[in-house]
Amino acid sequence: MSETPLAARPPAAVPTSDRKPTRGVLLRTPIPGPEAQKVIARDTQYLMTTTKSEPVVAASAEGCWVTDVDGNRLLDFASGISVLNVGHSHPDVVRAIREQAGILQHFAGTDFYYDLQVRLAERLTQITPGEFAKKVFFSNSGTESAEAAIKIARWNRRRPITVGLLGAFHGRSMGSLSMTTSKPVQRARYAPFVNGGHHIPAPTCYRCPYKMEYPSCDLYCAKVLKELYFETSIPPDDVAAFLAEGVMGEGGYFVPPKGWHQVIKSTLDEHGILYIDDEVQSGMGRTGHWFAIEHFGVTPDIITTAKAVGGGLPMGAVVLRADLNLGTGAHSNTFGGNPVAAAASLATIGVIEREGLLQNATKQGQYLQQRLRELQSKYDEIGDVRGIGLMVATEFVTDRRTKEPAVAFRDRVQTEAYKRGLILLGCGRSAIRYIPPLIVRREEIDEGVEILDAAIAAARQAA
Ligand SMILES: Cc1ncc(COP(=O)(O)O)c(C=O)c1O
Repeated sequence: MSETPLAARPPAAVPTSDRKPTRGVLLRTPIPGPEAQKVIARDTQYLMTTTKSEPVVAASAEGCWVTDVDGNRLLDFASGISVLNVGHSHPDVVRAIREQAGILQHFAGTDFYYDLQVRLAERLTQITPGEFAKKVFFSNSGTESAEAAIKIARWNRRRPITVGLLGAFHGRSMGSLSMTTSKPVQRARYAPFVNGGHHIPAPTCYRCPYKMEYPSCDLYCAKVLKELYFETSIPPDDVAAFLAEGVMGEGGYFVPPKGWHQVIKSTLDEHGILYIDDEVQSGMGRTGHWFAIEHFGVTPDIITTAKAVGGGLPMGAVVLRADLNLGTGAHSNTFGGNPVAAAASLATIGVIEREGLLQNATKQGQYLQQRLRELQSKYDEIGDVRGIGLMVATEFVTDRRTKEPAVAFRDRVQTEAYKRGLILLGCGRSAIRYIPPLIVRREEIDEGVEILDAAIAAARQAA
């Protein structure tokens, strides 16, 4: 502990169930207001274009609530893209960051030693599935975790191929981008990609690539790996790894049908192919289990995490079977396992446990889906409501029979929502994801759904 008196300490953590009642959206100006517009103009001048989609300019945030630079209070159903699973500025996480920053900020955890990263690695091996010895490599982001996982698989198997899913998202650096196929814009002008990336259609039942129906399809989309691809274009003994998200995120929040993971895993096992489970978006309690793959009864060989694992600080971690350990010098980095990020991560894990956030994600996720289904019965444009835990989405269509994606309509709904104080993110071609912090309360879900209801009605009028 630092002997230096710390700046005003935040209050002790309050369990989710005892958190202050919802404060409600408060709009003092249109969104974006005058101060927000100034920041947006300067941002446009100085920052490279990336993926910004909503003109919300944050000044501060707490729990599920963001206050913008004009004093408007907005409800956050995006969680900084599934990062703030314990909510914005959770007092325990803030305290851990403040204290650690005053003790040891950085020491290059890959080249030197400190106990904090060991403690975090140990915790991660405990909360990840698999009753076997594991090791951890710390990265700084999701894409870096994917790069490391692919390298670990290649290094161990000495095989060149990684098989992934069409529609998947694993990151934007060249190795992970070679496996990312969720939108053409992410890949356009970047070819050639890293060699050895192959893709098969994903288990996206609402939009089955084979136009079949579950369960009469008999899991064709999983069997196809063995029965078609391994018999034609992909020599299985050249495959190092299969890479898939526990639940597909960016590509549209598709939950694989029961049995899909098992069929894939048994095919992989026949050829000694490693299963890399990307839990960057679906992990750290988002689906009601620590990791989404736990819903499906298979145990991956390698798990990639990032986003929520750092509790709001940049952090990623690859958890691997211990026997897949690399040789000295084969892989490393500078910032992995940074002490401040590691302290935030340990605090985050503690909050998820102490406040029962896995249970809350399951409970509130069910309630959220129920409320969204009520909207579905009111609005034909909602073709599908799907998800698991607090990883939920609605897909917008122009016609429920043809399922034509209603992309412009989805965009209008998002715009009308933030104008009313609800922060949302799209996913897939025409879906919106609802990913509030896992501390969300029923009243906050009600408020979000009411705003969404009004936003859909307004989007209809504008059509
Ligand atoms: C499943 C998945 N993997 C990897 C990534 C890449 O993470 P990062 O943006 O931290 O590189 C993302 C980001 O959205 C993701 O959702």
